[in-house]
Amino acid sequence: MISVYDASLIQFPQILDIRGNLTFIEQERHIPFKIARVYWIYDVPGGEQRGEHAFRDQEEVIIALSGSFDVFLDDGNAQKIVHLNRAYHGLYVPRMIWRRMQNFSTNAVAYVLANYPFTTGDYIRDYREYKALMQEGK
Ligand code: TYD
Repeated sequence: MISVYDASLIQFPQILDIRGNLTFIEQERHIPFKIARVYWIYDVPGGEQRGEHAFRDQEEVIIALSGSFDVFLDDGNAQKIVHLNRAYHGLYVPRMIWRRMQNFSTNAVAYVLANYPFTTGDYIRDYREYKALMQEGK
């Protein structure tokens, strides 16, 4: 069964430099899936939340490229909140995890790598439907 404990923090390389630091991602080394899409969320007004849903098949790595925010994760049983505030950390979120991003700081940028192109049918937006699917072991 998929659980919030399968969501894990990935540490990307940091090239520290007095001129400014540098981090990079190589799909084969750092990302547990083939990247099909990248999107980012920015200019989030204070108090707003984004991404409250689950995906049937999509996996993601979420990075706080700038600023900070919390990722709330729920597997229908356990919940977990991960605070992201480092440009060299990525949070791997498996498929079928209910999640939302909240508590965005000013100028926060949520940069998200995904294993599928945008697919409306992959979204589960109804929490009751999500819970029922999890109970069926989907
Ligand atoms: P959505 O994922 O529903 O955001 P939230 O869960 O925070 O409400 O996306 C918002 C809108 O953007 C929705 O109409 C679909 C569109 N969208 C794309 O066209 N491509 C994408 O890659 C993403 C993530 C969203």
